[in-house]
Amino acid sequence: MPDYSNLFVSEFWNWYIIVITVLSIAACFALIIWLGKSPPAKQDEHGNTETMGHTWDGDLQEYNNPLPKWWLNMFYITLYFAIVYLALYPGLGNFQGLLKQDQYVQYNIEMNNAESTYGPMFEEHKNTPVEELVKNQKAVKMGERLFMTYCTVCHGSDAKGSTGFPNLRDNDWLYGSDPKTIEEVISKGKNSAGMVAWKDTLGGDDGVKAVAEYVLSLSNRKDVNAELAAQGKEKFAICSGCHGVDGKGMAALGAPNLTDEIWLYGGKRETVIESIAKGRAGVMPAHGEFLGDAKVHLLAAYVFSLSQTPAK
Ligand code: HEC
Ligand code: HEC
Repeated sequence: MPDYSNLFVSEFWNWYIIVITVLSIAACFALIIWLGKSPPAKQDEHGNTETMGHTWDGDLQEYNNPLPKWWLNMFYITLYFAIVYLALYPGLGNFQGLLKQDQYVQYNIEMNNAESTYGPMFEEHKNTPVEELVKNQKAVKMGERLFMTYCTVCHGSDAKGSTGFPNLRDNDWLYGSDPKTIEEVISKGKNSAGMVAWKDTLGGDDGVKAVAEYVLSLSNRKDVNAELAAQGKEKFAICSGCHGVDGKGMAALGAPNLTDEIWLYGGKRETVIESIAKGRAGVMPAHGEFLGDAKVHLLAAYVFSLSQTPAK
């Protein structure tokens, strides 16, 4: 069983929580006892019950009556409930409760049960190469379900991504399309590196604008200022180390192809300017340790299958 001792609070905070909780409950008791003892409503000489002296909507007044008994008793019930609950279940600092309902142990038991039920189903496909596995509908479906659980927050439920999160359905890849690379990206994660803010290097806003114009020209846009793009072309030498002399990108670095019309961050002129001026640094988190090799393998098969079939 993993060690959860680091999840417990230190001795100081343990007592801090216990003292504050117990004092709060005691204070609630004191308040309710005090309210329960308040004398019956006073009456004036005409036998009318005393009011609080507020008047709303012309004639709406508030009597100064003590709280009704049933109402007070409901408060008592909630307080007794709190005491019983804190005695039985965790809640007072590190005290585990008399029932010893350890949520970490429970979580572990459930996870182990799930692992022994479903683990073998995932393991079964571990040694089948992805190229083979994509032909197995059932395996791809399993990969899809894993994707729905772990990947859609960033890549979208249709796997088409969004700004900064790559579309996994098209055939355009930052890091490469072969199943081994896909599996490695999912397992080890990727930190796109090197696309720093280029504003200063390019000599300020004008330099950025010129290079951006050249970048836009690479995808054969009609609305490009050719003169400005020509100026930018000279400066593109700084960029070609990663994006390639032809701007077609470099998978080893995750540097995107700038000549297709597929943009990770957007192809509007302002957005391209922003990418260049301020830099970009997308992070694909590593999932290998968390999910295990067998699940990562099925995920790779699912992701690979997406680019094999036309987008819906
Ligand atoms: C926290 C957000 C996040 C989550 C969760 C996430 N990804 Fe990613 N993923 C990214 C980002 C961002 C990139 C692009 C990294 C970059 O800009 O270099 C990426 C890149 C990828 C790539 C490479 C795409 C290419 O074009 O080369 C693959 C494959 C991928 N993710 C698959 C997955 C799978 C499968 C999961 C679920 C296990 C997943 N991702 C979960 C953010 C995420
Ligand atoms: C050290 C490598 C490196 C250099 C040099 C570099 N880039 Fe990049 N560039 C990248 C990477 C990696 C990304 C992807 C960032 C991400 O995935 O978050 C990127 C992304 C971009 C994007 C966004 C593309 C999109 O699809 O939205 C543009 C535009 C861009 N670079 C232009 C340039 C220009 C212009 C230069 C030169 C001034 C340059 N880059 C220099 C590595 C580099």
